[in-house]
Amino acid sequence: MQLLRSEKLKSLFESLSSPEGIAVINPATEEELLRLKPSLLMELDEQIEQCRIAQQDWSKLAAKERSLILKSWFQLLVEHADDIATIITLEQGKPLAESRGEVAYGASFVEWFAEEAKRAYGEVIPAPSMDRRLSTIKQPVGVCAAITPWNFPIAMITRKAAPALAAGCGMIVKPSELTPLTAIAVVDLAHQAGIPKALLSLVISEQAAEFGQLLSTDPRIKKISFTGSTRVGKILLKQASDSVKAVSMELGGNAPFIVFDDADIESAINGLIASKFRNAGQTCVCTNRLYVHESIKDEFVAVLLDKVSALQVGNGREPTITLGPVITMAAKHRLEANIDQAVQEGAVIINQPQKLPGRFMEPVLLDNIEQGMAIVQQELFGPVLPIITFENDEQVLAMANDTEYGLACYFYTDSLKRIIKFSECLDYGMVGVNEGIISTEVAPFGGIKESGIGREGAKQGMDEYLETKYVCLGGIN
Ligand code: SIN
Repeated sequence: MQLLRSEKLKSLFESLSSPEGIAVINPATEEELLRLKPSLLMELDEQIEQCRIAQQDWSKLAAKERSLILKSWFQLLVEHADDIATIITLEQGKPLAESRGEVAYGASFVEWFAEEAKRAYGEVIPAPSMDRRLSTIKQPVGVCAAITPWNFPIAMITRKAAPALAAGCGMIVKPSELTPLTAIAVVDLAHQAGIPKALLSLVISEQAAEFGQLLSTDPRIKKISFTGSTRVGKILLKQASDSVKAVSMELGGNAPFIVFDDADIESAINGLIASKFRNAGQTCVCTNRLYVHESIKDEFVAVLLDKVSALQVGNGREPTITLGPVITMAAKHRLEANIDQAVQEGAVIINQPQKLPGRFMEPVLLDNIEQGMAIVQQELFGPVLPIITFENDEQVLAMANDTEYGLACYFYTDSLKRIIKFSECLDYGMVGVNEGIISTEVAPFGGIKESGIGREGAKQGMDEYLETKYVCLGGIN
């Protein structure tokens, strides 16, 4: 933490440290960054109550006042971008350039929703009879809970908290225990900007299941937003159903990346590298399986091998590194087991990945993959790429849709007909056409099927934290 410029942040972390607390580990070096005092289960009840009280006052502020406070938060995030990026690389492992990109991405949600706060419009509805006037108003959902993952330690918090606060809600955030330091810094800056402490607060704990249970069942919490695995999302959905909470679920993905025979190969490969190896393959929207037309496969794979061999694996603090470690040893072992199983089923590793120490992994390209293999159905979440060839459009469409997931998908083609057909027929919430990086604060992020419920970012992201109330005014003669 000595690397940080802000003395305020340094002393904040010092004040939260405890020798017996949760160890935050740098996945690149195995160094212990800090031990943090954990939140206590028995204190959550009071935290929710304080949030409920604070939310009542917050919701009474004019939208413009909330907007101005969010804008100050955005400014503080921009001013502290270097420190936050350093913290992300230290606790999460992604290369510094990617961490800087994530800070800009994370801050963009705060800026966007600061503006959207002023646009929570209701409607006037033409009434079916002249003695009535009908309208709708938008009102905040109330106290919300967010459970956020380690792969985007700032962006997954701001993508939930900014629209919630803009709408007039309060929020309790439980960040991953693997990346709590970014969360602490970001929420502290929110408080410095004028967001009341009780309105936006954190739960720092390794007791994920216990806190998840309380946050998804307490009747004072009106909405739960979760980003993480489909398995945990289903548990939270069941728990939240007892008090009929609103939910947003950003769950797992199994993104196909299709390259047709008329695609621009150079641009498809650049898109694939960005989509597959961003954050060492650890995003829900990362390419999970490559489908390449059989007539261009050899040429495509030759260029791909070249580009992949140029990726530099190592500590993300070093400027030449493009691929950091995977998050835990358990994640590395799971990926190795996925690769071993695929090889047993007939897959062939076509690059020469070295065995690296610790949590580092070189990219692995797997050829000779059949649609029925386990690796095609699993969310890999790491730098491993199965390659499948296809003969025609109908076949690849069926294979791409053959999954319970429906988050993101990508395809490269020059044909307008294909662009229209595949954009419409791929069963996914997001489609990248001749583009491998699609996330932005201005477009709705989210999945269908078992990839989730609801959308984040964009104007749709604000609606997730608003109720529509219908007002029927009668007796007008
Ligand atoms: C995620 O992996 O859940 C988020 C990825 C993104 O926002 O691009």
